[in-house]
Amino acid sequence: MTRTELIKKLPKAELHLHIEGTFEPELMFEIARRNRIVTRFSTIADIKKAYNFHNLQSFLDIYYEGANVLLHERDFYDLTMAYLIRCKEDNVVHTEIFFDPQTHTDRGVTFETIFKGIHGALKDAEKELCITSHMIMCFLRHLSEEDAFKTLKDSLPFKKDILAVGLDSSEVGHPPAKFQRVFEAAMKEGYLTVAHAGEEGPPAYIWEALDLLKIKRIDHGVRALEDEKLMDRIISDKIPLTVCPLSNLKLCVFKKLSDHNLKKLLQRGVKVTINSDDPAYFGGYANQNYLETAEALDLSEDELKTLAVNSFEASFLDDKIKLEWIKKVQSC
Ligand code: HPA
Ligand code: ZN
Repeated sequence: MTRTELIKKLPKAELHLHIEGTFEPELMFEIARRNRIVTRFSTIADIKKAYNFHNLQSFLDIYYEGANVLLHERDFYDLTMAYLIRCKEDNVVHTEIFFDPQTHTDRGVTFETIFKGIHGALKDAEKELCITSHMIMCFLRHLSEEDAFKTLKDSLPFKKDILAVGLDSSEVGHPPAKFQRVFEAAMKEGYLTVAHAGEEGPPAYIWEALDLLKIKRIDHGVRALEDEKLMDRIISDKIPLTVCPLSNLKLCVFKKLSDHNLKKLLQRGVKVTINSDDPAYFGGYANQNYLETAEALDLSEDELKTLAVNSFEASFLDDKIKLEWIKKVQSC
């Protein structure tokens, strides 16, 4: 079996995926047209030309601009369903998706509209495509603590269907400590916690996310290798890292994919997973991330299987279901 065949065959969980980051230009145009919104782009080629990033912020500016055309429950449904159909093609059988309520509520879209659109598609995909899922609500870290508290309050009527809270957007200058009290309040409401840390920010932000926000997984976390004490903690506490190689490449966290530290992390015994982050912007969904990384770092069959096993172990699935998927990975 070739590497490509193995990657296609492996069942996988995706644990780091922003639903707004799956917005393909074709669908963006269609939704803009039906909502009668004029954008500054006149062709799909124009949009793609703008996808040339030099750091996280240069991407975020365009990502928030694209999301502006999402207004109605149906828009959020269509966005989510399009992603789930891609999951089916890549044999992603379980996905834990991030959504950014503040990107939309700040434009007057209600929390209920966003939630119902995304959740409706996830439930339909469970029945029609056999893909299971969880929802993770992210706070935008460039906004205030007060705004995050308001978002937490907005979410409470829907909390039985939202498993965790997360932290995303511009990392540097917005340390996890800024959100310690909101995360404490979220945990009291029964939410699990995750956070982006150590993508562009220093290892100190990863320590804060672990110690102050009590996170169960680190999103990105690739800068952990700069701090040996932190590595010891991550390895001994088995804290998973949701790594996104093509994202790291496009946002210039690493110059070349062959410079990526994923293999080093894996060999040190870190529970690393591979994810697509914002696939419509970064050039590929789950399998493309597995494939290009495998080629660039010369990952072995065993390493690819470990990555797929890790994706289930690091997920928030029940233990029994995790084990069933892990057995299927091992028999590939
Ligand atoms: N980092 C921080 N915020 C984000 C990202 C990311 O990779 N993608 C979407 N929002
Ligand atoms: Zn992300």
